[in-house]
Amino acid sequence: MARVAIVTGGTRGIGRAICETLVADGFSVVANYAGNEEKARAFTDETGIPAYRWDVGDHQAVLDGIAQVEAEVGPIEVLVNNAGITRDGTLLKMSFEDWDAVMRVNLGGCFNMAKACFPGMKTRGWGRIVNIGSINGQAGQYGQVNYAAAKSGIHGFTKALAQEGARFGITVNAIAPGYIDTEMVAAVPEAVLEKIVAKIPVGRLGQASEIARGVAFLASEQGGFVTGSTLSINGGQHMY
Ligand code: CAA
Repeated sequence: MARVAIVTGGTRGIGRAICETLVADGFSVVANYAGNEEKARAFTDETGIPAYRWDVGDHQAVLDGIAQVEAEVGPIEVLVNNAGITRDGTLLKMSFEDWDAVMRVNLGGCFNMAKACFPGMKTRGWGRIVNIGSINGQAGQYGQVNYAAAKSGIHGFTKALAQEGARFGITVNAIAPGYIDTEMVAAVPEAVLEKIVAKIPVGRLGQASEIARGVAFLASEQGGFVTGSTLSINGGQHMY
């Protein structure tokens, strides 16, 4: 029986590439998404991967959603916490709502999803959790106190949960992507993005598939001795 993997924010961008790579590696994949119904329907039509809608920042919605997926597809053995949003702006201009939304979705989403999936993984004695952090959680980024704090929190969350999961056969790791060619990065003003790309030693944005390959390794059987680690995939922009 194929292992079931769930990818939050799985219908677009990096999440979509992760879904497609895990399918190619033999997993039974489920995508979660929050808002864009049209893109989610197109994703399922094109890939055959089922997509379930809930807000990862909503604790009860996550518990209900995971119960539904486990009843309809099977026990979740691989969790990829990929869902994330940006609300960029300098602190002086950032509203409390911009702060709160990013913390709730990006960091709260990891807690909510792990809370729902971890008990079953523990009972079965096997699990893989991969959290998508960010270079900006490692190095900080002008205009992103919310996002950098949430992503930095994901790196701490990963190391703490890795210690709790180890004796149950559950590995917990993070990937810290750099600037990847997605809609999220395309939303950065062109002049700002040009300056950022100029600081990437390999001289280009990353591809979503390059992040997905790292996730696939951490989710694999062979990844069993890797836990609590952060894999930076950033073209050399931040060597950490
Ligand atoms: N360091 C120091 N000063 C900076 C700076 C930096 N990195 N960037 C801008 N400034 C300065 C500017 O030079 C400017 O100063 P002056 O007025 O003296 O010229 C001042 O700050 C205001 O800059 P902006 O005109 O850019 O201000 P703004 O309010 O219009 O925009 C911003 C601010 C929204 C933060 C904008 O700069 C921005 O979008 N920056 C990009 C943020 C970013 O990288 N987001 C990543 C999104 S993708 C992602 O997050 C995925 C991932 O994981 C990597």
